[in-house]
Amino acid sequence: MVKKILAIYGSPRRKGNTTVLLNQAVQGVMDAGAHVEKIVLRDLKMSPCLEIYGCKETGKCVIQDDFQEVSNQLLACHGVMLASPIFFYTVSAHTKILMDRCQSLWVKKYLIDKTPYGQMNPRRKGLFISVGATKGKRLFEGTLLTLKYFFDILDAELWKALLYRELDFEGDVLKHPEYLQEAYETGKEFALAVQP
Ligand SMILES: Cc1cc2nc3c(=O)[nH]c(=O)nc-3n(C[C@H](O)[C@H](O)[C@H](O)COP(=O)(O)O)c2cc1C
Repeated sequence: MVKKILAIYGSPRRKGNTTVLLNQAVQGVMDAGAHVEKIVLRDLKMSPCLEIYGCKETGKCVIQDDFQEVSNQLLACHGVMLASPIFFYTVSAHTKILMDRCQSLWVKKYLIDKTPYGQMNPRRKGLFISVGATKGKRLFEGTLLTLKYFFDILDAELWKALLYRELDFEGDVLKHPEYLQEAYETGKEFALAVQP
């Protein structure tokens, strides 16, 4: 069975630092023989969650936009790679909109299917890639907490996080071939770790 891996690009920049790193990971995944689908959030029409709980009966979001297809892709994949820059100590707005729309999946898992809370049995693996401009020790703390609960509703465990500090302007990451290499190798390992 082919391993299906989603690569979600969360930066507003087309050639930004996280995009370059995720592209490296995607190349690694493909070289390991897995199938990758790319989702570039900035190209999608996706409303923020409107908190109307139209999802309460079925667990499906009732807002008709590009999230419908993304949600199908999330449910069909075996592994998800998410890349987002740090904006104000959390993920980018594009990424956060996706996360909030997945509240419909939270509703399905916990309100409709009544999955016991805290019972972790992840069937997917997740890789998170992030960068920030500063070098603070706590730069990724808030984001990792957000991510943990986002991955939980996808039934995904955080398999690995690649986190890089002191990258700000477009192209900064290119000055660090060791980061590019690490992202590529990690993509390869991720593809091997993911179970179909
Ligand atoms: C709106 C905005 C908020 C930001 N907030 C932070 C921050 O809280 N901490 C930080 O270290 N860098 C912050 N940055 C810098 C970005 O994380 C940095 O430029 C990063 O390299 C962008 O990644 P990208 O090229 O993949 O988009 C911010 C940048 C923007 C545009």
